[in-house]
Amino acid sequence: PNKYVIAPSILSADFARLGEEVKNVLAAGADVIHFDVMDNHYVPNLTIGPMVCKALRDHGITAPIDVHLMVSPVDSLITEFIDAGASHITFHPEATNHVDRSLQLIKNGGCKAGLVFNPATPLDAAKYVLDKLDIILLMSVNPGFGGQAFIPTALEKAREARKMIDDAGIDCRLMIDGGVKVENIRECAEAGVDMFVAGSAIFKSPRTQESYKATIDSMRD
Ligand code: DX5
Ligand code: ZN
Repeated sequence: PNKYVIAPSILSADFARLGEEVKNVLAAGADVIHFDVMDNHYVPNLTIGPMVCKALRDHGITAPIDVHLMVSPVDSLITEFIDAGASHITFHPEATNHVDRSLQLIKNGGCKAGLVFNPATPLDAAKYVLDKLDIILLMSVNPGFGGQAFIPTALEKAREARKMIDDAGIDCRLMIDGGVKVENIRECAEAGVDMFVAGSAIFKSPRTQESYKATIDSMRD
Protein backbone atom coordinates (compact mmCIF):
# COMPACT_ATOMS: atom_id res chain seq x y z
CA PRO A 1 0.00 0.00 0.00
CA ASN A 2 1.05 3.58 -0.65
CA LYS A 3 2.27 5.54 2.34
CA TYR A 4 -0.01 8.37 1.22
CA VAL A 5 -3.53 7.49 0.15
CA ILE A 6 -5.37 9.65 -2.39
CA ALA A 7 -9.14 9.31 -2.17
CA PRO A 8 -11.03 11.25 -4.86
CA SER A 9 -14.51 12.29 -3.75
CA ILE A 10 -17.05 11.33 -6.37
CA LEU A 11 -19.32 14.10 -5.08
CA SER A 12 -17.71 16.24 -7.80
CA ALA A 13 -17.84 13.55 -10.50
CA ASP A 14 -20.39 13.51 -13.32
CA PHE A 15 -23.19 11.45 -11.74
CA ALA A 16 -24.68 10.73 -15.15
CA ARG A 17 -21.49 8.81 -16.04
CA LEU A 18 -20.50 7.62 -12.57
CA GLY A 19 -19.15 4.17 -13.47
CA GLU A 20 -16.90 5.58 -16.16
CA GLU A 21 -15.71 8.42 -13.92
CA VAL A 22 -14.78 5.96 -11.15
CA LYS A 23 -12.90 3.72 -13.59
CA ASN A 24 -11.05 6.72 -15.03
CA VAL A 25 -9.99 8.12 -11.69
CA LEU A 26 -8.77 4.68 -10.55
CA ALA A 27 -6.84 4.23 -13.79
CA ALA A 28 -5.39 7.69 -13.12
CA GLY A 29 -3.85 6.44 -9.86
CA ALA A 30 -6.47 6.93 -7.15
CA ASP A 31 -6.07 4.50 -4.24
CA VAL A 32 -9.57 4.66 -2.80
CA ILE A 33 -12.98 6.02 -3.84
CA HIS A 34 -14.46 8.49 -1.34
CA PHE A 35 -18.25 8.16 -1.31
CA ASP A 36 -20.17 11.04 0.32
CA VAL A 37 -23.56 10.17 1.76
CA MET A 38 -25.80 13.13 2.69
CA ASP A 39 -29.35 12.91 4.01
CA ASN A 40 -30.72 16.48 3.96
CA HIS A 41 -31.00 16.20 7.73
CA TYR A 42 -27.55 15.97 9.26
CA VAL A 43 -26.31 18.16 6.39
CA PRO A 44 -28.35 20.39 4.06
CA ASN A 45 -27.78 18.34 0.91
CA LEU A 46 -28.87 15.01 -0.52
CA THR A 47 -26.63 12.61 -2.43
CA ILE A 48 -26.31 8.89 -2.94
CA GLY A 49 -27.00 5.77 -0.92
CA PRO A 50 -26.22 2.05 -0.70
CA MET A 51 -27.86 1.23 -4.06
CA VAL A 52 -25.26 3.34 -5.84
CA CYS A 53 -22.43 1.70 -3.90
CA LYS A 54 -23.78 -1.72 -4.89
CA ALA A 55 -24.13 -0.58 -8.51
CA LEU A 56 -20.43 0.37 -8.59
CA ARG A 57 -19.51 -3.09 -7.24
CA ASP A 58 -21.75 -4.74 -9.83
CA HIS A 59 -20.04 -2.57 -12.47
CA GLY A 60 -16.73 -4.29 -11.60
CA ILE A 61 -15.19 -1.69 -9.27
CA THR A 62 -12.96 -3.62 -6.84
CA ALA A 63 -11.02 -0.71 -5.30
CA PRO A 64 -11.74 0.22 -1.68
CA ILE A 65 -14.89 2.34 -1.30
CA ASP A 66 -14.63 4.75 1.61
CA VAL A 67 -18.14 5.66 2.72
CA HIS A 68 -18.42 9.00 4.54
CA LEU A 69 -21.79 9.07 6.30
CA MET A 70 -23.15 12.58 6.79
CA VAL A 71 -26.45 11.22 8.08
CA SER A 72 -28.34 10.90 11.34
CA PRO A 73 -29.04 8.35 12.68
CA VAL A 74 -26.24 6.14 11.35
CA ASP A 75 -26.79 2.50 12.35
CA SER A 76 -29.32 1.37 9.73
CA LEU A 77 -27.24 2.84 6.91
CA ILE A 78 -24.08 1.24 8.33
CA THR A 79 -25.72 -2.16 7.93
CA GLU A 80 -26.93 -1.34 4.43
CA PHE A 81 -23.52 -0.11 3.30
CA ILE A 82 -21.81 -3.22 4.65
CA ASP A 83 -24.17 -5.27 2.48
CA ALA A 84 -23.61 -2.92 -0.47
CA GLY A 85 -19.85 -3.56 -0.55
CA ALA A 86 -18.36 -0.66 1.41
CA SER A 87 -14.74 -1.08 2.54
CA HIS A 88 -14.47 1.76 5.06
CA ILE A 89 -17.33 3.48 6.87
CA THR A 90 -16.92 6.72 8.79
CA PHE A 91 -19.53 8.75 10.66
CA HIS A 92 -19.79 11.90 12.76
CA PRO A 93 -19.91 11.13 16.51
CA GLU A 94 -22.65 13.73 17.13
CA ALA A 95 -24.88 11.89 14.64
CA THR A 96 -25.32 8.79 16.80
CA ASN A 97 -26.27 8.26 20.43
CA HIS A 98 -23.87 5.34 20.84
CA VAL A 99 -20.52 5.92 19.21
CA ASP A 100 -18.89 2.75 20.47
CA ARG A 101 -21.82 0.61 19.35
CA SER A 102 -21.86 2.13 15.85
CA LEU A 103 -18.10 1.58 15.51
CA GLN A 104 -18.52 -2.02 16.61
CA LEU A 105 -21.31 -2.51 14.08
CA ILE A 106 -18.93 -1.43 11.31
CA LYS A 107 -16.12 -3.68 12.55
CA ASN A 108 -18.46 -6.66 12.91
CA GLY A 109 -19.36 -6.18 9.25
CA GLY A 110 -15.71 -6.56 8.28
CA CYS A 111 -15.21 -2.90 7.31
CA LYS A 112 -12.64 -0.40 8.52
CA ALA A 113 -14.21 2.10 10.90
CA GLY A 114 -13.63 5.77 11.50
CA LEU A 115 -14.89 8.91 13.20
CA VAL A 116 -15.27 12.26 11.46
CA PHE A 117 -14.69 15.56 13.22
CA ASN A 118 -16.24 18.81 11.98
CA PRO A 119 -14.04 21.92 12.00
CA ALA A 120 -15.24 23.08 15.45
CA THR A 121 -15.58 19.63 17.04
CA PRO A 122 -12.84 18.61 19.47
CA LEU A 123 -11.21 15.19 19.19
CA ASP A 124 -12.59 14.09 22.59
CA ALA A 125 -14.95 11.46 21.16
CA ALA A 126 -11.95 9.51 19.85
CA LYS A 127 -10.23 9.18 23.21
CA TYR A 128 -11.92 6.10 24.66
CA VAL A 129 -12.48 4.27 21.36
CA LEU A 130 -9.00 4.64 19.87
CA ASP A 131 -8.53 0.87 19.76
CA LYS A 132 -11.54 0.61 17.45
CA LEU A 133 -10.47 3.34 15.01
CA ASP A 134 -8.90 2.56 11.65
CA ILE A 135 -9.44 6.13 10.46
CA ILE A 136 -9.68 9.57 12.02
CA LEU A 137 -11.17 11.95 9.46
CA LEU A 138 -10.80 15.67 9.99
CA MET A 139 -13.15 17.94 8.10
CA SER A 140 -11.38 21.01 6.72
CA VAL A 141 -14.73 22.44 5.53
CA ASN A 142 -18.20 22.28 7.02
CA PRO A 143 -19.72 19.12 5.56
CA GLY A 144 -22.41 19.32 2.89
CA PHE A 145 -20.86 20.60 -0.30
CA GLY A 146 -17.85 20.22 -2.55
CA GLY A 147 -15.75 23.14 -3.71
CA GLN A 148 -15.48 25.04 -0.40
CA ALA A 149 -12.35 26.75 0.90
CA PHE A 150 -9.93 24.90 3.23
CA ILE A 151 -10.24 25.98 6.89
CA PRO A 152 -6.62 26.36 8.08
CA THR A 153 -7.21 25.46 11.75
CA ALA A 154 -7.62 21.88 10.52
CA LEU A 155 -3.80 21.75 10.35
CA GLU A 156 -3.43 22.39 14.07
CA LYS A 157 -6.01 19.68 14.73
CA ALA A 158 -4.14 17.33 12.42
CA ARG A 159 -0.97 17.75 14.49
CA GLU A 160 -3.00 17.00 17.61
CA ALA A 161 -4.60 13.91 16.05
CA ARG A 162 -1.23 12.68 14.73
CA LYS A 163 0.17 12.88 18.25
CA MET A 164 -2.84 10.98 19.63
CA ILE A 165 -2.36 8.20 17.06
CA ASP A 166 1.40 7.96 17.55
CA ASP A 167 1.20 8.07 21.35
CA ALA A 168 -1.35 5.25 21.31
CA GLY A 169 0.74 3.29 18.82
CA ILE A 170 -2.33 2.32 16.83
CA ASP A 171 -2.63 1.48 13.13
CA CYS A 172 -4.93 4.35 12.18
CA ARG A 173 -5.04 6.55 9.10
CA LEU A 174 -5.29 10.31 9.56
CA MET A 175 -7.51 11.62 6.81
CA ILE A 176 -8.50 15.13 5.77
CA ASP A 177 -11.53 16.17 3.73
CA GLY A 178 -12.46 19.52 2.24
CA GLY A 179 -10.68 22.06 0.10
CA VAL A 180 -7.61 19.86 -0.41
CA LYS A 181 -5.67 20.93 -3.50
CA VAL A 182 -2.23 20.52 -5.05
CA GLU A 183 -1.31 23.85 -3.42
CA ASN A 184 -2.05 22.83 0.20
CA ILE A 185 -1.60 19.05 0.29
CA ARG A 186 2.04 19.31 1.41
CA GLU A 187 1.08 21.32 4.51
CA CYS A 188 -1.46 18.64 5.35
CA ALA A 189 1.14 15.89 4.99
CA GLU A 190 3.58 17.85 7.14
CA ALA A 191 0.88 18.09 9.81
CA GLY A 192 0.69 14.29 9.87
CA VAL A 193 -2.12 13.52 7.42
CA ASP A 194 -1.64 10.35 5.35
CA MET A 195 -4.98 10.03 3.56
CA PHE A 196 -6.35 12.83 1.42
CA VAL A 197 -9.84 13.36 0.06
CA ALA A 198 -10.09 15.67 -2.94
CA GLY A 199 -13.24 16.28 -4.94
CA SER A 200 -13.33 19.47 -6.97
CA ALA A 201 -9.53 19.59 -7.28
CA ILE A 202 -9.55 16.31 -9.23
CA PHE A 203 -12.97 16.15 -10.94
CA LYS A 204 -12.70 19.40 -12.84
CA SER A 205 -12.85 20.10 -16.53
CA PRO A 206 -11.64 18.50 -18.74
CA ARG A 207 -13.15 15.30 -17.35
CA THR A 208 -10.51 12.95 -18.73
CA GLN A 209 -8.30 10.26 -17.27
CA GLU A 210 -5.22 12.27 -18.35
CA SER A 211 -6.38 15.32 -16.44
CA TYR A 212 -7.19 13.26 -13.33
CA LYS A 213 -3.76 11.64 -13.56
CA ALA A 214 -2.00 15.00 -13.84
CA THR A 215 -3.70 16.23 -10.65
CA ILE A 216 -3.16 13.00 -8.70
CA ASP A 217 0.52 12.87 -9.75
CA SER A 218 1.03 16.48 -8.64
CA MET A 219 -0.64 15.73 -5.32
CA ARG A 220 1.68 12.76 -4.76
CA ASP A 221 4.73 14.89 -5.63
C1 DX5 B 1 -17.98 17.61 1.90
C2 DX5 B 1 -17.55 16.22 1.53
C3 DX5 B 1 -16.30 16.18 0.79
C4 DX5 B 1 -16.31 16.92 -0.52
C5 DX5 B 1 -14.96 17.51 -0.69
O1 DX5 B 1 -19.04 17.56 2.78
O2 DX5 B 1 -17.40 15.42 2.68
O3 DX5 B 1 -15.82 14.85 0.62
O4 DX5 B 1 -16.62 16.15 -1.63
O5 DX5 B 1 -14.96 18.29 -1.85
P1 DX5 B 1 -13.76 19.29 -2.14
O6 DX5 B 1 -12.52 18.48 -2.28
O7 DX5 B 1 -14.20 19.93 -3.43
O8 DX5 B 1 -13.71 20.27 -1.01
ZN1 ZN C 1 -16.40 13.44 2.42
